[in-house]
Amino acid sequence: MTVQTETTLPTTPVRGLDRQMIIILDFGSQYSELIARRIRETQVYSEVLSYRTPVEQIEKINPKGIILSGGPNSVYDPRAPQCDPQIFHMGIPILGVCYGMQLMVQQLGGKVEKAERGEYGKAALFIDDPTDLFTNVDTGNTMWMSHADSCLKLPEGFEILAHTNNTRCAAIANHERKLYGVQFHPEVVHSIGGIALIRNFVYHICDAEPTWTTEAFVEESIREIRAKVGQQRVLLALSGGVDSSTLAFLLHKAIGDQLTCMFIDQGFMRKGEPESLLKLFEGQFHINVEYIEARDRFLKAIEGVTDPEVKRKRIGHEFIRVFEEESKRLGPFDYLAQGTLYPDVIESADTNVDPKTGERVAVKIKSHHNVGGLPKDLQFKLIEPLRKLFKDEVRKLGRSIGLPEEIVQRHPFPGPGLAIRILGEVTSEKLNILRDADFIVRDEIRNRGIYHDFWQAFAVLLPIRSVGVMGDQRTYAHPVVLRFITSEDGMTADWSRVSYDLLEAISNRIVNEVKGVNRVVYDITSKPPGTIEWE
Ligand code: XMP
Repeated sequence: MTVQTETTLPTTPVRGLDRQMIIILDFGSQYSELIARRIRETQVYSEVLSYRTPVEQIEKINPKGIILSGGPNSVYDPRAPQCDPQIFHMGIPILGVCYGMQLMVQQLGGKVEKAERGEYGKAALFIDDPTDLFTNVDTGNTMWMSHADSCLKLPEGFEILAHTNNTRCAAIANHERKLYGVQFHPEVVHSIGGIALIRNFVYHICDAEPTWTTEAFVEESIREIRAKVGQQRVLLALSGGVDSSTLAFLLHKAIGDQLTCMFIDQGFMRKGEPESLLKLFEGQFHINVEYIEARDRFLKAIEGVTDPEVKRKRIGHEFIRVFEEESKRLGPFDYLAQGTLYPDVIESADTNVDPKTGERVAVKIKSHHNVGGLPKDLQFKLIEPLRKLFKDEVRKLGRSIGLPEEIVQRHPFPGPGLAIRILGEVTSEKLNILRDADFIVRDEIRNRGIYHDFWQAFAVLLPIRSVGVMGDQRTYAHPVVLRFITSEDGMTADWSRVSYDLLEAISNRIVNEVKGVNRVVYDITSKPPGTIEWE
């Protein structure tokens, strides 16, 4: 039997709910997800759908509003993605953003052409009509532009709401039909007043109500989980990260002891982590965790391996083997709970189009497969209660159902853990060295109250050795690299400009307290060209 996955793509919006929703038709913009997040921040539910979604499906969803996203194409390109033009006649408010606005103009009889001068980056926006869409948005504010084409002739019934020095039609509207377009990106942080504009659209133009709240989500999820699971048993692989921990809390709230959390200790976690995880779940919250001690197995599986990809694969295979054995021993289970999030669902939806060939492509590159990735032929049905949520919504949810801040705000940690931060062969001696060095890094930044200043801050152990001197003794030991990173999403990153004082304190402690290390260096490489992890 195969997994009865419910992540069949493209995404099907939630049915049977009377929740108000604004849909985004995605034309391949890198910002489509961000628009959905911004709308959800106004407490109105939002989903990203393919630009090809038929009108009949949109009618069934009955959204309060529609946003047409930006995209990399030109609307006059013969292969440019088009939405069903009927959507403009549904009587539902529509906001076109960049490509979305140009498409609206073109499909309603206006004219779009390559601009004399494209506009990229910041531009001052001058408001000509300060009503509805621009209520509480100041004229002269900076907005983020990114377009090579411009709208030269407006369709009938439309007027100009705002302009920039370069672009006459920077915002347009047909007030009567509630059709709007903006040539800039209100969703990005550089657009001052962009959020106010989105709120105006959501509340005043679409007349939506703020029903997307954490409390409502918890209540509804618990109802759904109970209805689906009934009296059956659910298995969850707990890693200690925010997603699986939140999921465990939510499931436990819904089905209590019908949930079994399995925590496989590969031996690659940070100092004290397995212990504090068990203490928290079992001791404090009385959530039963099956602790599987598998440290030697994993170490053996990567014995002598120096290639990072082979290391990852071996750890992944071992994880599956242990998981299968243990789930048989503890089972039978009916459901496997997975912490799939909304970006995983839309990333796989085929919404993007290659501007040259017209072929649909996935423009986003999946950053990482987790070690917890399980094979497709397990004997479980899947349950994925977080699949509607963005990461920041998971954090909010976790917090609201009692997850402590140390897990909610934990820095990202790779599935294969310290094993990939030890370059070359992994041994238990090296794991101990890195665990101690890593502990000092975290201890110092926690004590100074700067843990949250970083996306990640960690230590890496190199397989080389160099000469040093301690007291009157010559040493010949390993260097440790400190990697401190600032980042928005882990896709790009910069090295942190930390104080010399902090570096000195960490370096002194590591060299003095950790046997086997005689040198500490600081990595000053951004991503790209470097990656965040060293592997
Ligand atoms: P890189 O090293 O590719 O890492 O710049 C980007 C982000 O991904 C994290 N990372 C992982 N996360 N499982 C995860 O859940 C993994 O196997 C994994 N490998 C890297 C990394 O810590 C950084 O935040």
